[in-house]
Amino acid sequence: MTAVFDVYGTLLDLAALEVELRRRFGEAGGPFLERWRRAQLEYSWLHTLTGPVPPFEQVTAAAAAWALESLGLSGDPEELTRLWRTALAAYPDVPAALDALAALGVPRIVLSNGDGAALAAALTAAGVIGAFDRILSAGEAGAFKPDPRVYRLAVEALGVEPAAVWFFSSNFWDVFGAKRFGFRVAWVRRRPVPADHLGVRPDAVLASLAEAPALFARPSQDA
Ligand code: LAC
Repeated sequence: MTAVFDVYGTLLDLAALEVELRRRFGEAGGPFLERWRRAQLEYSWLHTLTGPVPPFEQVTAAAAAWALESLGLSGDPEELTRLWRTALAAYPDVPAALDALAALGVPRIVLSNGDGAALAAALTAAGVIGAFDRILSAGEAGAFKPDPRVYRLAVEALGVEPAAVWFFSSNFWDVFGAKRFGFRVAWVRRRPVPADHLGVRPDAVLASLAEAPALFARPSQDA
């Protein structure tokens, strides 16, 4: 079995971004981040539906511009977007979980909507890049998650069947896409949010990635 990970909100915590946005925008920092993230996702899905998809950083900057406008804030969308490369920390459970998976001989792969260079920069800044065997970016598939082309990119790059992948995401829309594609999916439910009503159930629900190695340690899971 191979472990494949979403990045933003799953490996990397957006909390540091929120702190930085509150420093700049005061109380509006929280609502700004919420609108920014929501627009970033919606724009990525709209571009995927119509094609062609722009780079994810361009989508992120466009979403920042809209979120600024919607709240009457001033800021530089490109400069804000660079925070995604520099300001995010790994969740505290991530390094030990990745080490434990490595010790079990489990390949560790990143599969994110982020652009390759931005992903590498963010994972480097968070100090975890060395824990991954491979970093795959949705851009290579010409679509963003949850489009099946992106999950297919992973199975083709790795030469494995979908059922031989444990996919980890905190984002339920990503759980939905990965489950529909045929991965085994662990929803990393770090906060007590309800599952979306989309007709799929994750194969496992984890409170943090500290629970991930146990999914591989059971001999029956590898049979
Ligand atoms: C990712 C974001 C979009 O794909 O969660 O890493």
